[in-house]
Amino acid sequence: MKRIMYISTTTRKLSDEEVDEIGRKSRVNNSRVAVTGVLLSANEFFFQILEGNEEDVASVMDRIKQDPRHEGLLILKAENGVTKRLFGDWSMNTVRLDGMSDMLMQAIRIMLENITDSHRIIERYTQPAVLQFMTEGINPLTVPVMKTEQVILFGDIVAFSYLSGLYPVEEVAALVNLYLDIASRNIAKNGGQVTKYVGDCVVAHFPPDRADDAVRSCVETLRSIQDLRASAGDCRLQKFLYCGFGISKGLVIEGNIGSSIKMDYTVLGDIVNLAARLESLTREIGKGIALTAAVRDACKENWDFIRAGEFTLKGQSVPQPVYSITDPAVDDMKSYEDILQVVASDCCEIQY
Ligand SMILES: Cc1cc2nc3c(=O)[nH]c(=O)nc-3n(C[C@H](O)[C@H](O)[C@H](O)COP(=O)(O)O)c2cc1C
Repeated sequence: MKRIMYISTTTRKLSDEEVDEIGRKSRVNNSRVAVTGVLLSANEFFFQILEGNEEDVASVMDRIKQDPRHEGLLILKAENGVTKRLFGDWSMNTVRLDGMSDMLMQAIRIMLENITDSHRIIERYTQPAVLQFMTEGINPLTVPVMKTEQVILFGDIVAFSYLSGLYPVEEVAALVNLYLDIASRNIAKNGGQVTKYVGDCVVAHFPPDRADDAVRSCVETLRSIQDLRASAGDCRLQKFLYCGFGISKGLVIEGNIGSSIKMDYTVLGDIVNLAARLESLTREIGKGIALTAAVRDACKENWDFIRAGEFTLKGQSVPQPVYSITDPAVDDMKSYEDILQVVASDCCEIQY
């Protein structure tokens, strides 16, 4: 059997009758498939425990996830191989905590509100891969380190350190957040995982059969950034926002790397370093994307690939061919020196 515990936030204020109706319907539906559990509701949140056969719990969860009355569903714990039910007598006992004057219930409500708040914060700081393991009922700390094949993507902002010295800190932070948000949404939408952020740099990995998706997420980001530049006011930082992506493919070490103080679920190895080197090379080749032959060969879509040249990248002993694609957004690239020049000629009033 499986047991799932989650919290969610209501999308609007629900009346007592509406919450009671959710409970009534849940009891009817759950008793049909022998799913048991408890649903607690307070002003703005739900806390629910569901237990039963794996497929039955999954199908009830699928319906619950799509319910527009709540959002931000976060699995606190998922347990597989459960042998004994905790709520065997309840097809879904529903308790409205805010309607209770009992001090103990108030204490439980406050405790759940605090747990909800702190989980919402921790969720934002946690790697998606770790949350995914927890959703699947796997303790991420127990996942062994593996050698896996991945498509690795590295992206960052051209001349970021230089630009960041010219503008107020709020504008600099807003730009980095905007860039990371656009890139990360495109990565997630195309089936990749954001591995980590290193300053203004985003690192992501995709399954080996998703090279096209990795390329597409870069092209889409470059297009959005081109639009941002076009709509930015004169001398605004966004006007100078250019970014480069390196994409490599091969075997990496994937797993828990860290210390007793902080753990990362991450990727390591030559292939990861290669993506970082390719990302730096984008400035030199005047293209927003640089990729390896392995990535090009793994793509099935009709990208307009070009050979950008042969390069001996740091850490390599022999020159390797590097590829890019022809696309208006990918071709619209500037080097560090170009950015310096554009800023100097366009924005002489900036103090630097
Ligand atoms: C917080 C919350 C918990 C819910 N729990 C259950 C549940 O345990 N079982 C269930 O069948 N529906 C539950 N629902 C309702 C489902 O989202 C969905 O509306 C319902 O299953 C549709 O049932 P129907 O197809 O019989 O109309 C819940 C909804 C919310 C907002």
